[in-house]
Amino acid sequence: MNSIIIYASKYGCTEACVKQLKALLEGDITLCEINNEKNYDLSLYDKVIIGGSVYIGRINKKLKKFCLKNLNLLVNKKVGLFITCLKEDAEAFQQIITNYPQELIDIAITKDYFGGEIINSKLGFFDRLITNMVSKSPELSFPKPDENNNVILVKPDHIERFSKIMNDN
Ligand SMILES: Cc1cc2nc3c(=O)[nH]c(=O)nc-3n(C[C@H](O)[C@H](O)[C@H](O)COP(=O)(O)O)c2cc1C
Repeated sequence: MNSIIIYASKYGCTEACVKQLKALLEGDITLCEINNEKNYDLSLYDKVIIGGSVYIGRINKKLKKFCLKNLNLLVNKKVGLFITCLKEDAEAFQQIITNYPQELIDIAITKDYFGGEIINSKLGFFDRLITNMVSKSPELSFPKPDENNNVILVKPDHIERFSKIMNDN
């Protein structure tokens, strides 16, 4: 079986998750970062995995556009959807539902979140500003940063359960 993982990563966390996922998946796996690669031929793949990080509630615009543009093809594939994010449980799943088209949510064989990571020194000016603001707001706040001001909350167990479902279908 041929699979492709189409993803968007701003600071590298999603990319690292994608590499972990690839190592767990069976068959031929192609990786495609949506900002770098436009020449993918979806007809070559039986399984399509789509994922990206959430910023202020939203996934990467190009990833969303890709889903809408290829909806007709995608609904006939085995699709897995994921996000990386710092919200957990119901809030994380809600972010999946609001970011992917309903048609894909309905047919996806699995949908999950892989956790996330903020490495403070990597952040651009505005992202650092937002992170500082959010971390001061008790309602909006992300999980508490460590002593280096980083939040490292990737969930290998979620990546593994996602890979199992993709492999079994
Ligand atoms: C400015 C900023 C905004 C964020 N907004 C959200 C958010 O709305 N919801 C959420 O769950 N995580 C949010 N995150 C966490 C990111 O989704 C997380 O850091 C992710 O792992 C980043 O992956 P990437 O490095 O591949 O882009 C935010 C992070 C930053 C820096």
